[in-house]
Amino acid sequence: MENLDEKILQAKTLEELEKVRVELFGKKGFLSLEFAKMKTIPASEKKAFAEGLNNTKERLQTLFDTRYELLKKEEIELILQSEAIDVSLYESRGEKGALHPVMDTMDKIIDYFVALNFSVESGPMVEDDFHNFEALNLPKHHPARDMQDTFYFKDGGLLRTHTSPVQIRTMMQTKPPIRMIAPGSVFRRDYDLTHTPMFHQVEGLVVEEKGKVSFANLKAILVDFLHYMFGDVEVRFRPSFFPFTEPSAEVDISCIFCGGDGCRVCSHTGWLEVLGCGIVDPNVFKAVGYENVSGYAFGLGVERFAMLIHRIPDLRTLFEGDIRLLEQFR
Ligand code: PHE
Repeated sequence: MENLDEKILQAKTLEELEKVRVELFGKKGFLSLEFAKMKTIPASEKKAFAEGLNNTKERLQTLFDTRYELLKKEEIELILQSEAIDVSLYESRGEKGALHPVMDTMDKIIDYFVALNFSVESGPMVEDDFHNFEALNLPKHHPARDMQDTFYFKDGGLLRTHTSPVQIRTMMQTKPPIRMIAPGSVFRRDYDLTHTPMFHQVEGLVVEEKGKVSFANLKAILVDFLHYMFGDVEVRFRPSFFPFTEPSAEVDISCIFCGGDGCRVCSHTGWLEVLGCGIVDPNVFKAVGYENVSGYAFGLGVERFAMLIHRIPDLRTLFEGDIRLLEQFR
């Protein structure tokens, strides 16, 4: 009998206990076999035998039920533990990203002109000779083509060297008046501290009825724009040359590093060149079939703006994807 009690108490899982149950209480189990013995027991001993057996049965049953309760509880506990979801567990969401400094600068530039009702236009990066050069008053063999080292394709196509072809495309697709900017990437065969083979420009073009825009308008908007970008700087217009504008100017701001006293960044001139601009050359209007209009245009390099604003000494670092540089602009 001791042995039977032990069996129950030693069952460690419900599965083991179930085996014990069959062994003790099953149809062919211990108790059934014992009760079957009743038939062969002499009548005088029957009562005592039955009483003893019933007591045993009762004891085993109680023992079994207690063990069952215990194991059942343990099992539930185990399930609860293994399936528990810890809602207080800290979850790392990763670090926040940020706009690349070039895109951030581009957005700032676009914001300025959109606020002044300029539309934002775009064109293909793979251009043809007509849009990139010819229509911009740069005929074949014109020496000014050498100003822009061009990537050519075998079929005569090319990677646009500036955003000015978007001027041509927009004028050919719409009628004047036009008031547009064209941000985008451009490509030149160049690679050093201040040049990468791909960089970004923002082009601007305003076309109105003849006589309605002048260099004074161009000057006013660019001075205001440069104050918006660089704060309280001096702005100067220096006569220059572009085939598609006449007259043309390059625009300088007083050096934001030395305040105009002269330093390494401004090559000790006190000035930083930031823009090209001018009055649209009549030959450009002729190429797109415009008559009785006048206009002005400008173009700027976004990387140059970003480098000046963030004081980045080497342009190439902007495109190396080094996370240590990018982290500084979060
Ligand atoms: N396209 C010229 C360049 O890439 C910039 C420019 C645009 C100058 C418009 C004048 C007018 O250098």
